[in-house]
Amino acid sequence: MAKYSLKINGKTQQIDVDPSTPILWVLRDHLKMTGTKFGCGMAMCGACTIHLDGNATRSCVLPVSAIGKSAITTIEGLSETGKHPVQQAWLEHDVAQCGYCQSGQIMSASALLKSNPKPTDEDIDNAMSGNICRCGTYLRIKEAIKTAAK
Ligand code: FES
Repeated sequence: MAKYSLKINGKTQQIDVDPSTPILWVLRDHLKMTGTKFGCGMAMCGACTIHLDGNATRSCVLPVSAIGKSAITTIEGLSETGKHPVQQAWLEHDVAQCGYCQSGQIMSASALLKSNPKPTDEDIDNAMSGNICRCGTYLRIKEAIKTAAK
């Protein structure tokens, strides 16, 4: 076990865990922040996407020991009010079906728009290609990203 001081959603959180623990499980099990989802555990589906210093990152394969001083943002911290432009666009387009993958989708989409506020269709496809949705909401996701970019 080792002690870590993590910057999560603008607050400092102290935890004492095995250094190899993926940050996904620190968030979900230790800090009870369950908005970040477990899908594959192998960096293949995107359900666990968080931001690390603003970049979309798969939390299921990122050990807590690798975080250092980087700032973590989770879906809970994207917007305190739920009124982030991407979240608003998601509602407008009624994107979610079962909803399980959607926090990861929103975190990837919001990271894309932060680095590229006017993405092309190809930019969107490239940025979102690692986020799998078993309900097939891809077209609505794309439209919502375009709306959020306006
Ligand atoms: Fe991390 Fe699938 S759970 S990418």
